[in-house]
Amino acid sequence: MTVLIVGCGKGAVEPQHAVDPEFPPLAALGPVSVPQDNPITPAKVKLGRLLFFDQRTSGDVSTSCKSCHTPELGWGDGQAISRGYPGTRHWRNSQTVVNSAYLTKLFWGGEVTSLESQANSAITGNLAGNGDPVMIEERLAQIPEYVALFKEVFGVDQPTYNLALKAIATFERAEVVDNNTPFDRYMRGDKNAISPSAVRGKTLFEGKANCIRCHNGALLSDENYHNLGVPPPPQFEKDVLMQVSLRYQHYSRGVPEEVYLKADRDLGLYYTTKREEDKGRLRTPPLRYIRYTAPYMHNGVFATLEKVVDFYNKGGGDDPARSILLAPLNLTPPEKADLLEFLQTLSGPEILMEPPAMPEYKPIEVGRR
Ligand code: HEC
Ligand code: HEC
Repeated sequence: MTVLIVGCGKGAVEPQHAVDPEFPPLAALGPVSVPQDNPITPAKVKLGRLLFFDQRTSGDVSTSCKSCHTPELGWGDGQAISRGYPGTRHWRNSQTVVNSAYLTKLFWGGEVTSLESQANSAITGNLAGNGDPVMIEERLAQIPEYVALFKEVFGVDQPTYNLALKAIATFERAEVVDNNTPFDRYMRGDKNAISPSAVRGKTLFEGKANCIRCHNGALLSDENYHNLGVPPPPQFEKDVLMQVSLRYQHYSRGVPEEVYLKADRDLGLYYTTKREEDKGRLRTPPLRYIRYTAPYMHNGVFATLEKVVDFYNKGGGDDPARSILLAPLNLTPPEKADLLEFLQTLSGPEILMEPPAMPEYKPIEVGRR
């Protein structure tokens, strides 16, 4: 597939925003790049799909990837703050898995860099799968269909945890991708693929509304970190389990005690760098598939894209450390409508998938593999 690069709105960026004029223009999305040590094969995709839907990858066999990444909920879970492992509440909004295969920084704080390592965090993380790799290997070894599939796919006699991660990543690369949206077709040259209103919205996106500064390139993300001053989620003050999770995250990521004691929001990039100026900076999410992924932002505070656009229109939130790239936009109601129309073109048809039938356990004969 060729990627057509089209120039962005000339001279549209306002001077006070011109900090780093180097950013890639919007573009159609090409094929997923596949790591050399984990090629895609149909049997591996099938194995990964089964594992994605299989609750036995979690500690108490209650929670699969699908529990928080449900196809009919935009491959997220539809809640502001994601459900957690039973007995916990997660602390962040569940992200869509659609097009994760293109990202080089995953999670709201960009904490991991590959789908394989992401799957490991998801399976073992206390708020997600809370699974133990050794226990998971034992379970898989007692499911004949898995033993046969691991043998077929990887040539091994026993399923291993690391190969399970590779299979899950392969499924995501092969089947959870949306790269033929109306926007992509427009960028590849089909000028009728999006409406005149969406074309006007695109010009605003690249110009007056200044979204392009952070949402750029084919993913509509610079994969960089910014603090927008997104308001805290209203339920935080009353939700004990959210408070537990936030303090737990602060503690396990090694923040100083005074920061831990004041824990009231997601510090984003700060957890990795421990630099004061990185507090509240989150990875720019791609804007693809957003039609299906409400509510929005790392804490799901905005229920609709209208609310997101209103937030940007008034210049973002009121954190004093907010990005200097944000300023009031003075968009008129028709301009807002055009911008929203453009945002709709970034999603193709909904990617729906029935859960596959789960392979069953079979007791082993003592003394045999
Ligand atoms: C209990 C809920 C839960 C479960 C179970 C879960 N996830 Fe997630 N997932 C989330 C949340 C919440 C985030 C955002 C977390 C963060 O930023 O720290 C996320 C983020 C991701 C991302 C990153 C997307 C991006 O844009 O960076 C991928 C990929 C993903 N999950 C895949 C998986 C896979 C594969 C599994 C199963 C092995 C899984 N998840 C299990 C809730 C869950
Ligand atoms: C300074 C960089 C920057 C600019 C400019 C910017 N964004 Fe964002 N955008 C981000 C970051 C970072 C987030 C995540 C923030 C968070 O969760 O706290 C985000 C989140 C979003 C989301 C939510 C996506 C999701 O998956 O929840 C949408 C929609 C969005 N932006 C649209 C826009 C539009 C439209 C514009 C222009 C009016 C714009 N952005 C301008 C950086 C930016």
